[in-house]
Amino acid sequence: TRIFIPQDAAALAVGAEKVAKAIAAQAGDTVTIIRTGSRGLFWLEPLVEVETPGGRIAYGPVTPADVPGLFAAGFLTGAAHPLCRGPTAQIPWLARQNRLTFARCGIIDPLSVEDYRAHGGFKGLARALSIGPSDTIEEVVKSGLRGRGGAGFPTGIKWRTVAAAAADRRYIVCNADEGDSGTFADRMMMEGDPLALIEGMVIAGFAVGASKGYVYARSEYPHANRTFARVLDVARTAGLLGADILGSGFGFDIELRIGAGAYVCGEETALLESLEGKRGVVRAKPPLPAIKGLFGRPTVVNNLLSLATVPTILANGAQAYADYGMGRSRGTMPLQIAGNVKFGGLFEDAFGLSLGEIVNEIGGGTLTGRPVKAVQCGGPLGAYFPPSLFDTQYDYEAFTARGGLIGHGGIVVFDDSVDLSAQARFAMEFCAIESCGKCTPCRIGSTRGAEVIDRIRAGIEVEANIALVEDLCQTMKFGSLCALGGFTPYPVLSALHHFPEDFRRGHLPVA
Ligand code: NAI
Ligand code: SF4
Repeated sequence: TRIFIPQDAAALAVGAEKVAKAIAAQAGDTVTIIRTGSRGLFWLEPLVEVETPGGRIAYGPVTPADVPGLFAAGFLTGAAHPLCRGPTAQIPWLARQNRLTFARCGIIDPLSVEDYRAHGGFKGLARALSIGPSDTIEEVVKSGLRGRGGAGFPTGIKWRTVAAAAADRRYIVCNADEGDSGTFADRMMMEGDPLALIEGMVIAGFAVGASKGYVYARSEYPHANRTFARVLDVARTAGLLGADILGSGFGFDIELRIGAGAYVCGEETALLESLEGKRGVVRAKPPLPAIKGLFGRPTVVNNLLSLATVPTILANGAQAYADYGMGRSRGTMPLQIAGNVKFGGLFEDAFGLSLGEIVNEIGGGTLTGRPVKAVQCGGPLGAYFPPSLFDTQYDYEAFTARGGLIGHGGIVVFDDSVDLSAQARFAMEFCAIESCGKCTPCRIGSTRGAEVIDRIRAGIEVEANIALVEDLCQTMKFGSLCALGGFTPYPVLSALHHFPEDFRRGHLPVA
């Protein structure tokens, strides 16, 4: 019997390792335990799955204390038990999704090339190698895939620019510096299906004529980095990286680099500086990295999710991907539902769900049972949406039209105990701490912004100070060099506009 237990950081955080040990101790040699990534249903972690002739049966959340009872109930045959969730694939939260990017995550052994291949792996690469570099780029263009880091720039167009730039060498850089609050999709992919990222990077390298790729990851993700370092060795041994990939004559290798924890290093040019061994300071654009990037060479800098989505696009064709979605937002988005919510986790579906559906139906409302007051979308620099905007469809343009952004897909839910003036202050404080210091509106503006919000919260000249914050936000928005200073106004202004009463409570002590 095969038993699947996640080794994903979220599952480990709630005791998956102890559960695995308890099951191994009780089962002895009668079972094979396979450590997987997470299915992304975090409220059921640790989610243990048992393989039966009728498919995998899920049990969760399992604690070590539950293990004897599970064996007594006969869970090795998929028997009933209070923790039994039935066939995993039929759990409604999972069955409702359209998993393209995350199709294998939680299902396969992330370190097994055979498992990856058996679940559709390498089909995309094989097709790319057969159609050639320029048609590969055109497939990505036609799919409508846009940058999943948040800016939504068309991935295929970026590749075209890099391929067309004259150079002796080009690079692929994967931005895995997942710093947004409430986001975890990059991490889940690195832990659950890292070969998809490798395959996507190899395809990108083949398409634009690069032989070297870098994955820029976070020191805060030790499990992801450990798994990814191992899988690089596995891929090299299997000939999926190296001088002659799958006998094509095309050579490509990947290096894992780990950042030191600066949020701004998720900005592509600061990331490149850091990769070059320098301090993570933002570069002025132009030149775009696509023209003059790493070590001055044309460089594809793509978010991890964009790269990990490329294999499925090539494997099934651009149209199959573009058939999902709405408007100019094609394909699927791995939503990361977090914060004060009943059913948090990774939910991948086509663009076009309404924010209300995501929060109330999929997320199940707040865990505390109190009314939802605000939802922050797109990380710490994203806007706070009130329930009155819950009809907003999940789509790049629809969010922009409502003064927000979808960013990297993070959705953080707050109940009515949140004070949005405190959140606005936090945004300014976050910017002050993380600012690279290169430009004045961000470096000085964020500190002054936090001070002025403190005065508002203390009830001092409230209206005049609110006008001052709004004015400061305009300066930061239009005068900052990068998105850190330029987007900090989103949480601040959305809090001010949608939750004005939180700024007029008066006479709070200065924080
Ligand atoms: P941007 O709009 O300046 O650029 C987007 C990408 O397209 C960049 O890679 C840029 O080099 C490229 N690009 C632009 N024009 C191009 C052209 N003509 N040819 C080829 N490539 C071209 O946005 P930026 O500053 O890279 O990112 C801002 C976004 O980052 C925000 O929208 C925000 O959602 C997101 N963000 C994401 C975070 C995360 O943790 N994932 C954190 C903070 C912000
Ligand atoms: Fe640096 Fe802030 Fe300016 Fe960005 S906006 S370049 S983080 S000082």
